[in-house]
Amino acid sequence: MIIAIPKEVEASERRVAAVPDMIGKMVKAGFDVRVESGAGDKAYFNDSAYEKAGATLVKDGASLFSTADIILKVQRPIMRLEGVHEADMMRSGAVLVSLMHPLTYPDVVRKLATKGITAFSVSLVPRITRAQNVDILSSMSSLAGYKAVLLAASTHPRLIPMMTTSAGTYPPAKVLVLGAGVAGLQAIATAKRMGALVSAFDTRPVVKEQVQSLGATFVEVDLAGEEAADAGGYAKELSADFYKRQGELIAQHARQSDIVITTALIPGKDAPLLIPKQVVAEMKPGAVIVDMAVEQGGNCELSRMGETVEEFGVIIIGATNLPATLPMHASQMYSKNVWNFLALICKDGKIQFDPKDEIIAATLVTHQGEIVNPEIKNSILKGGK
Ligand code: NAI
Repeated sequence: MIIAIPKEVEASERRVAAVPDMIGKMVKAGFDVRVESGAGDKAYFNDSAYEKAGATLVKDGASLFSTADIILKVQRPIMRLEGVHEADMMRSGAVLVSLMHPLTYPDVVRKLATKGITAFSVSLVPRITRAQNVDILSSMSSLAGYKAVLLAASTHPRLIPMMTTSAGTYPPAKVLVLGAGVAGLQAIATAKRMGALVSAFDTRPVVKEQVQSLGATFVEVDLAGEEAADAGGYAKELSADFYKRQGELIAQHARQSDIVITTALIPGKDAPLLIPKQVVAEMKPGAVIVDMAVEQGGNCELSRMGETVEEFGVIIIGATNLPATLPMHASQMYSKNVWNFLALICKDGKIQFDPKDEIIAATLVTHQGEIVNPEIKNSILKGGK
């Protein structure tokens, strides 16, 4: 069975779906692995490392895509410079595993269904215990939470740790993290390691202990009897009254903060607005906000996707694809998770999977000419985004 690893051609993408170590495992398992020449260059994995691991290098992207049984990619299929869409290069019946973000890119989903591609989106892996070793979003979110703090620290005009110098003692920076899920917890840990005073908000009280165990202060808003999480443990939308009380408390903390990292997300919804314009206007001059939820509409009213803007003397970073800025480790983690995912869809050297399996049912987007994931199908039939 032929596995293809194409070069990622999306402008911000520097990751590769499989690193040479993982290729070695695939070859050992009996796969014929073909890698597009230069696929790992931006992540510092060169062609010769792939060859040494047992892959065949292919110069021509079109022939790589058209001969593959399984294509492992990071980004959704897109148009190549030569004017051909990657989905159009795949043969009907091929399997694609990628971070497709199907609700954001419904046109790609329609195209893949029409082409008869069996497409899995690993951006939809459910956060259940059994899926931990294929949970690509979590591994990428950890990297992103770490990098968000580094970005904020290098942009902020003041020090992060307390520093005693010949010119006096300077206090540590105050960092506020909104949303203490995977990215938020990593942001807290990173800011603590840098010597900041860290506080964090989350609507789910269960994360209080995790926040405190990292040495940060957990700021609690009284839920007044409301349930903050659904049966799966994910955040739920709460009442307008809760958000009003939360907003007042966040505003108080934001005014005193040097850095705010926002990561608040409710699955399937637009990001909750936590830092409105008037709160930005009251923040300290030189304060930095990194809005990690910018792709879901943003937790800060003034953030702009992919841009850094300055408003009321506050620097607001709307960085996207932070994992790609750490391409070496991000590719290693991605390929480890993808290798584990392959075990769910291949048995005895053949493509074989159980559509009723919870992980398969959640990630399988198109199969045999149809959009099979009901939530995505409904959204696309309603007109998608
Ligand atoms: P997660 O689901 O693990 O965490 C989100 C947290 O937000 C949860 O703990 C939830 O309880 C909390 N939350 C929900 N509503 C809230 C509210 N009103 N106030 C405070 N907390 C609230 O998600 P994860 O993986 O940590 O991702 C967080 C965000 O970062 C997402 O928007 C994701 O798309 C984004 N992200 C951005 C990247 C980038 O490069 N910009 C890369 C990776 C993730």
